[in-house]
Amino acid sequence: MIRDSYIKTVIEPFKIKTVEPIKFTNEEDRKHILSEAGYNTFLIDAENVLIDLLTDSGTSAMSSKQWAGLLDGDESYAGSRSFFRMEAMVRKITGLTHIIPTHQGRAAEKILFSIIGGEGKVVPNNTHFDTTRANVEFSGALAVDCLNEDGKHPEVIADFKGNMDIAKLEATIQKYGADNIPAVLITVTNNSGGGQPVSMENIRQTRAVCDKYGLKLIMDSCRFAENAYFIKLREPGYADKTPLEIAQEMFSYADGSTMSAKKDGLVNIGGWLALNDDDLAVLCRNLLIVTEGFPTYGGLAGRDLEAIAQGLEEILDEDYLHYRIKSTEYLGRKLNEQGVPILMPPGGHAIYLDARRFLPEIPQEQFPAQSITCALYLDGGIRAVEIGSVMFGRKENGVFIAPDLELVRLAIPRRVYTQSHIDYVIEVVKHVHDRRNELKGLRLTYEAPMLRHFTARFEYL
Ligand code: F0G
Repeated sequence: MIRDSYIKTVIEPFKIKTVEPIKFTNEEDRKHILSEAGYNTFLIDAENVLIDLLTDSGTSAMSSKQWAGLLDGDESYAGSRSFFRMEAMVRKITGLTHIIPTHQGRAAEKILFSIIGGEGKVVPNNTHFDTTRANVEFSGALAVDCLNEDGKHPEVIADFKGNMDIAKLEATIQKYGADNIPAVLITVTNNSGGGQPVSMENIRQTRAVCDKYGLKLIMDSCRFAENAYFIKLREPGYADKTPLEIAQEMFSYADGSTMSAKKDGLVNIGGWLALNDDDLAVLCRNLLIVTEGFPTYGGLAGRDLEAIAQGLEEILDEDYLHYRIKSTEYLGRKLNEQGVPILMPPGGHAIYLDARRFLPEIPQEQFPAQSITCALYLDGGIRAVEIGSVMFGRKENGVFIAPDLELVRLAIPRRVYTQSHIDYVIEVVKHVHDRRNELKGLRLTYEAPMLRHFTARFEYL
């Protein structure tokens, strides 16, 4: 890494070779589009979005070497060279024995929990991402979040707000019995809790609890490289280690990894399930053959495996990670300076607006985060995503149970937008914040029984 100390500007560590035009719309158009979409940004056609911050998943720009890899991919049904390259890369980083490719993260979750989940089982995690929770619950098991207290307070500034609450983890194991816990999960970084990192010490402590009760530890590793870089920046003893060395140590405490390569694999599709347990790996591979494909492609084309292998080389590059973490922080810092309430400190892949402080007058039952999401689209064609009462709120005996956090996530696709795009985002968010008193709550007009946020429809109250 060559960075002269007298230079303060963080620049994109790449130049642009291919461009994709984005379409401008006016406020009148967007009013119509939003109402047609039932006030759900998932239901807006992408071509009507100017800056798409819906997700950082599968939206990365691939490098010229990745595109070259697509042509070079080996499309053999069995024993593809591209699989072996991918397998070697994943093994180098994780040290895990069995590398099972899947078409994305939730496919790995589905296979794993179909086998280890089921009625009466309990799966603790720092915070389950929505698909992880859905796959645990779909198997009949119970998903329990054990997030540390700091992580539940958006305004608290702490280095590792993604950490597992070790006492709560242990209490959960004692409450339900170790025999009923097929594995403990740890999500790095903690997406639903604000893209906040987990410290190495916390991973180590989680491992120690697992050892005490004879439990497996599976890492939900979607953003492992961003987590590794936060450890380098913030945790004593890691400043001189490379992101690869840090990632290797993180994985050394795990018995397995579920991965969506659509995040820190820098690809548009792909993932894996990696395991040390030979017997479990056999069961998972057999299910993989039924649901995804042969174990050397797992629902992917050979070219996708090639792109993942190359993406994993690039994700641990320190210049890339420096730019990634600093540019996300730039968006957060600017919003914070302008008085926009955000979850602090800025996360790795996204900035989260704190809807409870943004719109204190609108109760969570009226979906304040969804209302802000609509306003961002209406005012600037920006697509964000609600991570609050729509995604995680529920009713028990007719009573609304609000989630701990009510957030709007501005997820930053990797290597896609430049600083001027981000400056535009800052301007639009500020504009929405300035006119926050005009924003109204919403009411659901349709909801699906599971993962309702994807297809829900609303109307303004
Ligand atoms: N685990 C975490 C922590 C995630 O963030 C995601 C996906 C998954 C698992 C599932 O992976 O999408 O490849 O099936 N998160 C995306 C997001 C969708 O927008 O945060 P997948």
